[in-house]
Order: sequence, then structure tokens, then C-alpha cells
Amino acid sequence: MPHRPDPAELQTVLDDIATRMAGEAERGEVASYIPELARVPLNRFGMAVAPLDGPPIIAGDAEVPFSIQSISKVFALVAALGHVGASLWRRVGREPSGDPFNSIVQLEAERGKPRNPFINPGAIVVSDVILENQPDETTQHPVLDLCQRLADAPDIAVDEDVFASEVATGDRNRALAYFMLAEGNIRGDVTEVTESYFRQCSIEMSCLQLATATRFLATEGEGPDAEIAGVTPERVRRLNALMMTCGCYDASGEVAFRIGLPCKSGVGGGLVAIVPGVGAIAAWSPGLDKKGNSVLAIKAIEELAHRLNWSVF
Ligand code: DON
Repeated sequence: MPHRPDPAELQTVLDDIATRMAGEAERGEVASYIPELARVPLNRFGMAVAPLDGPPIIAGDAEVPFSIQSISKVFALVAALGHVGASLWRRVGREPSGDPFNSIVQLEAERGKPRNPFINPGAIVVSDVILENQPDETTQHPVLDLCQRLADAPDIAVDEDVFASEVATGDRNRALAYFMLAEGNIRGDVTEVTESYFRQCSIEMSCLQLATATRFLATEGEGPDAEIAGVTPERVRRLNALMMTCGCYDASGEVAFRIGLPCKSGVGGGLVAIVPGVGAIAAWSPGLDKKGNSVLAIKAIEELAHRLNWSVF
């Protein structure tokens, strides 16, 4: 059974982990292919837990906003499924790719249908679906809107410098989108679709906000958080299944082995993990491993999960 610590015990465990992470020498490297991300100091570390039955608990830099990058793909998927439901799966698969998140190799072999919604081409199709179903272009970005409502934080915003940096260096993503356009799997304008995708990746949130915003995934699809997300119990289970199998790209198996919880990472160094029935965890450290996942965020959540016996297995 997962341990359900009281707030004082959880605070002690988080503080202890944050102290140990501060002393870690092996921290990986900050992402530099999006130049603006390379400016974040390597020594940052934060962590937050948003339990279903108590106040959020935080440690370290848990209230410092950072670029959520691919973690936005979870919120975008929720928005797209809200628009088109299961018909989304005609355009995006549900299998782990085993390839880097921005690979074009499988896309050619599989005629423009991305393996899953958490690799870049899959997320670009999801953005296309959202744009197609977003009738009023003057409203704010639907993924930003969802993040603000789920975290109950209207101040969450897009970092315009990161956005500009992504647009300036996004040729690979545009190539993925043009390839899918040629195969009939993108319906909108490639510039608009990729800019919408870059904008959602450039949203800044803190660990506290991310844990709060993903808490609905720890519910059984009921309650106020699930209502904001517009999810059913079945959809929650399936989102968790996708996070477990595809949430950390070609390291998803390794992360499942080490942590044993559905997770989603981003190249900003964030990682969220869901403990079904208990709550959501977010950790952040900008140094990445070779597959684009945060070295210390994985290590910290691994340690937390082990200490509290939090695993879906
Ligand atoms: O499109 C990109 O490459 C980035 N905006 C997002 C990639 C990302 O976060 C992959 N994560 N591990």
C-alpha cells in the first residue's frame, strides 16, 4: 500500500531530498538547442507534492517558474481530447517510439502518423487539432488557459523570450509539420500550428503550480480538479497509461523501472509524476541527461517514491 504521510512527515522527507540534491555534483547539462533555455542556472532544484487530501508541500526552488516545455503536452492532450474525443487516435498513435522526441525517422516509415502525443510530431498534430477547434482566435492560448485554471494561478504566462527562441530555432519541428502536411495529417497552416506548439512549450510554471495542475490525474476522474480538466475516469486512466509508456521519450522504460509512476518530462528540466489515489509530484532541475530528461528531478522523485512506497506496481 502507498504510504500516506501527514504534512509534517512529507515536509521532512522533501526537505531532506532537497538538501541532498543541493550537494549532488552530477547534474547533467542545461538544454542549449533552444538558446534561451541555456541561460537558466544549473544549480536550481525544487520539488512539490500536491496531495489529494491535504495542503501542497514544497522544498527548494519550488516556487520559481521555469519553462514547462514538453510537460505542456499533457495539458494539450487533455484539451484536444476534450474537443475531438477518441477520434484523435486516428491521427496519433499510442505506442512508445523508442526514438528521440524530435526524430523524423518513424514518421516517414509510418506515413505521417506519429507514434504518440508526447513526441514532438504527435504534439504538433495535437496543436493542429486544438487550433482547428478553437473558434475564437482572440481568446488566450487554450493550453495556457487550462494550466491557469488547474493551478488556480491566473498569473501563469508564456515566456516571450523562450517563445521567440523556439520560433528562431524551430526548423526541425517545422520539418516534422511539413512532412505531416504532405501526408495529410496537418490541416492548418504550418507556421500557425508550430507557433501554437512553441507557445505552449514556452509556458512558465513552478513545481508548486505543476503539481497542483496535474493533481487531477491522481483522482479517479472525479472531483473539482477533474471537472476543470473535463476528464472522465477512463480518460484519466488512459492519460496515466500514456505517461507511463511514453512520457519520457526513449527513456520511458528506464524511468518506469526506476520510479514506477506515470511521469512526464520537459527539456526545461521539469518532471511530473502521478501517484494514483494519493497526489501529484513535480520536481525541477535544469540539467539534463543525454535523452533530454532532468538528472536530478528523476533522482529526487525516485528517492521520494522509494521512501514512501509510491508505485503503481
Ligand atoms: O520542441 C521542442 O523541442 C521543445 N519545445 C520541447 C521538447 C521537450 O521538452 C522534449 N523533452 N524532453
